[in-house]
Amino acid sequence: MTQRQILVTSALPYANGPIHLGHMLEAVQTDIWVRFQKMRGHDCVYVCADDAHGTAIMLRAENEGITSEQLIDRVRAEHMASYAGFHIGFDNYHSTHSPENRHYSETIYKALRANNRIATRSIKQLFDPEKGLFLADRFVKGSCPKCKAEDQYGDNCEVCGATYSPAELINPRSTLSGATPVEKESEHYFFKLPEFTDFLKQWTRSGSLQPQVANKLAEWVEGGLQEWDISRDAPYFGFEIPDAPGKYFYVWLDAPIGYMASFQALCDRTGRQFDDYWKPGSQAELYHFIGKDIINFHALFWPSMLSDSGYRTPTAVFAHGFMTVNGKKMSKSRGTFINADTYLQHLDAEFLRYFLASRLGGGVDDLDLSFDDFLAKVNADVVGKLVNIASRCAGFISKGFEGRLAEELANPELLAQAQQAAESIATAYEEREYHRAIRQIMALADQANSYIAEQQPWVLAKQNPQDPQVQAICSTGINLFRLLMIYLKPVLPAMAEKVEAFLQVQPLQWRDAASLLTDHVIDSFKPLARRAEAAQVEALLASTREEAEQTRKLTAAPVDQVAASTVTGEQTVDSQLAKEPIAEEITFDDFIKVDLRVARIIKADYVEGADKLLQLTLDLGPDANGEGVVRNVFSGIRSAYTPEALEGRLTVLAANLKPRKMKFGLSEGMVLAAGPGGEDIFLLSPDSGAQPGMRIV
Ligand code: MSP
Ligand code: ZN
Repeated sequence: MTQRQILVTSALPYANGPIHLGHMLEAVQTDIWVRFQKMRGHDCVYVCADDAHGTAIMLRAENEGITSEQLIDRVRAEHMASYAGFHIGFDNYHSTHSPENRHYSETIYKALRANNRIATRSIKQLFDPEKGLFLADRFVKGSCPKCKAEDQYGDNCEVCGATYSPAELINPRSTLSGATPVEKESEHYFFKLPEFTDFLKQWTRSGSLQPQVANKLAEWVEGGLQEWDISRDAPYFGFEIPDAPGKYFYVWLDAPIGYMASFQALCDRTGRQFDDYWKPGSQAELYHFIGKDIINFHALFWPSMLSDSGYRTPTAVFAHGFMTVNGKKMSKSRGTFINADTYLQHLDAEFLRYFLASRLGGGVDDLDLSFDDFLAKVNADVVGKLVNIASRCAGFISKGFEGRLAEELANPELLAQAQQAAESIATAYEEREYHRAIRQIMALADQANSYIAEQQPWVLAKQNPQDPQVQAICSTGINLFRLLMIYLKPVLPAMAEKVEAFLQVQPLQWRDAASLLTDHVIDSFKPLARRAEAAQVEALLASTREEAEQTRKLTAAPVDQVAASTVTGEQTVDSQLAKEPIAEEITFDDFIKVDLRVARIIKADYVEGADKLLQLTLDLGPDANGEGVVRNVFSGIRSAYTPEALEGRLTVLAANLKPRKMKFGLSEGMVLAAGPGGEDIFLLSPDSGAQPGMRIV
């Protein structure tokens, strides 16, 4: 087999918050692949870094009363510790705020400029006169220009789904200071992406992307590309643009260049040649693992930039879906936004790695961390099946044979079968179809356990602990266990290390599956894993909720508090009723006009082109003629619910509301929900027993 040269990256996490389990999904997916390649004998390296630039980081440092540099240094150390806790084996972990990154950012920018790929023009933007800052859309709030809903962000309305520019908001205010923003002009720098249309049509179809991703991108490219705004005005935490005082590279310009910077630092340390990996004609393979939310940056801007500045493009970009927790989007207020470190205080890192592997495929589907499934899976597979093989066999080898494995093994066919699985398991790993690899490995584990159960070495050992049959059977069991551990080593590296010590062997490589361990002394067996308990999960979720409460107290934005409070005497009260006092009195007759019904959500879908909406199909049961009544409703709850979490459940429908024509179709009524929006939307549901169609009074 020829040795491949492979450079792998995962996306650079922002330096303004802790690593959470969503980040960890990506890191684990990448790390398994890298460890697999290394075990196969390839020259594979894995680099990453913190994404340290941008307004958010600058503001956070300001809030904490430290410099941006101090903040990013501290956070980088925290991030590295969290990743280490999950056995993520980076070869280098860097920062985008580094000399290497400045060098490559300037080099690439200057090359693009020399090729006439940079345009400049003046644009108008909202500006916070108190803070002296241009305001990104998410820092402006006001009332929706279409439906007048209050407290909507600068780019779209969560209530009616309208999109608009922040200047169109009614009564806009800066969420940073509360000041009324003013329009201000400033010169911006643009990357002329439309000039890369032909290149991108070809590149996105060159096999570097997953089919679903290539199709999505084709739509964007066909739809017409826009020039990309790559500059931000001071004050900004980032790199100043060469020959443009007061202008900074937009964080996303230098972020992917951070992959190069991190790799350069690795080269400086290890003597690898940067150009061997990054220059056109390079024989090395280059892969980026990323989440599906950042595909455009990696599959449109990034290859275009590289192709025109003297570098090679990635061999492939591998996008993955998002983690949900117990069927819900990860959310701070729901207590499902689980930090990596919090998980580690309660549960074993390798259990998460195993669970993720058992669910991960090569596509972009979301992955649900259902804790019921998690407990069932890791206890059944890792503890019940895998570890059990060794613990059932090892004692007899120690007691009866001074730890020596038999010269002749008992069941050559079974062993050969387990050995022959090596290639198809390897193919599954290579294709990132980890769930397929795990399924095959667990099928072998089942066979091994049945074999031991049939042979009952404990019965033979009772009569004669030194019976050669006992040694042969248990040595076969230990060998099957060793093969399984080779196959699982990319997923369970720490357990593999303990097993190598137990077996007294060199670090296991993939090719070791071709041989067996005979006439070899092993160490005494020590427990490798303890069952995961529901109580640990409960404690984890409780800690997570506590942390969410703490952060809410610490970081409650001053402006939001002002807007959401009433002053009672000297005191300021922050409560739901303070935010929105109870409405004007109505009569019972007024109330009863609203026809509220129990409805079952039989289908929930994303809506193309509306990232706030879900399309719900609601079943109200049969009408007087026995015909099923079904309603179509567009609801602004996408930020809080996945379609899967909704299908099948009951909710409450305002059924006699005049239908509304929306861009996407007719909305026939409204489902009831509480909360301010964003992740904090709580759909109402009746107690169990209620039937679709029942009226609510
Ligand atoms: N800083 C940018 C990436 C720059 S890469 C040159 C960024 N940072 S991030 O911290 O928001 O996200 C880092 C990675 O974690 C992204 O690939 C993102 O998709 C992934 N995830 C963040 N939340 C996630 C889940 N809930 N589930 C799975 N992956 C998620 O984007
Ligand atoms: Zn609106």
